[in-house]
Amino acid sequence: MRDVGPGDHAEILRVLIAAFSGADEARLVERLWAENAIELERVAMIEDEIVGYCAFSRVSVAPPAAGVVLGLAPVAVAPSRQNEGVGSALIRDCLAAVKNRAAAIVLLGHADYYPRFGFTPAGRKNVAWDMRDAGAAFQLLDFGGAFDGAPRKVSYHPAFSAL
Ligand SMILES: CC(C)(COP(=O)(O)OP(=O)(O)OC[C@H]1O[C@@H](n2cnc3c(N)ncnc32)[C@H](O)[C@@H]1OP(=O)(O)O)[C@@H](O)C(=O)NCCC(=O)NCCS
Repeated sequence: MRDVGPGDHAEILRVLIAAFSGADEARLVERLWAENAIELERVAMIEDEIVGYCAFSRVSVAPPAAGVVLGLAPVAVAPSRQNEGVGSALIRDCLAAVKNRAAAIVLLGHADYYPRFGFTPAGRKNVAWDMRDAGAAFQLLDFGGAFDGAPRKVSYHPAFSAL
């Protein structure tokens, strides 16, 4: 795993398009790059090839949480390398790297995949996505006291609205 360099962009976009079978997430990441909205991004490497990508961008929370909250999105592994542990290793690596910079992480994703990394349904702490009720798909990893149980709404960067 390593941080992303500017020379990686074309390869990352290829991984995103292949993993999501379409260009929406690749376009999202291009917009996040253009707007300097990414707080942390890492790639998984096998030999010299980028096989996975993971990004965190800042979200806004109303009323504010106690500390910086980041959204984990997107995360993708090249189809030929899925189900080999690359995604898990990348997510664990990224969470360790981001822990110093954030009080909590939110994400929208499969409710049976992310609990293994410590995520729980955000609704349990009264934290909701501002767009719609995503149920258990909207998940939260609170590194310690960012959310106190009072009702809060989370908004992703405007680049996500175009998804
Ligand atoms: C989701 C993804 C990043 C996981 O990466 P990976 O390297 O395949 O995952 P790992 O090998 O570490 O873990 C495999 C586990 O993830 C589960 N998994 C993989 N994709 C999943 C999905 N879309 N939904 C739920 N579980 C999924 C597998 O069933 C397996 O579960 P198990 O450990 O209980 O058997 C990858 O499959 C991917 O890029 N998918 C397409 C893009 C996507 O859906 N991204 C996530 C939403 S932003």
